[in-house]
Amino acid sequence: MLTAEEKKEIEAEIPRYEQKRAVCLEALQIVQRHRGWVSDEALGAIAEFLEMTPAELDAVATFYNLIFRKPVGKHIILVCNSVSCWIMGYESIRQHLQDRLGIQLGETTADGVFTLLPIVCLGACDQAPAIMIDDQLYGNLEPAKIDEILSTYR
Ligand code: FES
Repeated sequence: MLTAEEKKEIEAEIPRYEQKRAVCLEALQIVQRHRGWVSDEALGAIAEFLEMTPAELDAVATFYNLIFRKPVGKHIILVCNSVSCWIMGYESIRQHLQDRLGIQLGETTADGVFTLLPIVCLGACDQAPAIMIDDQLYGNLEPAKIDEILSTYR
């Protein structure tokens, strides 16, 4: 079931489009903002609210890699693996993050604090290699700087 607040936020988006179902991505983002991820139950509730089938909505949800269909950590670390970051040291940044967190890409730390995910260009190529933690961008990275950054989230 959607909460009254989630419904209100989704309804506020509907007048912007000709069809109710066109707000499906916004609706997924709204529910994810409230719950941290989009469970099957939540997906079904959104689909019903937007008069779509769960399969139609799931196709949208799985197309966008920042809609989470399984539980994620408190903080999401996005590691840019596009060309500028690749050239400027992506591999060592990714490896250092994996070593420090004890997880691989796509996984969440046992304490539930971090989820590590790959992402295409963060739009900060001039600061490559770059990562984003939640809404905060970090650039010109090197391993020592990563340790310092991670310590601020623990
Ligand atoms: S390639 Fe990494 S920020 Fe653009």
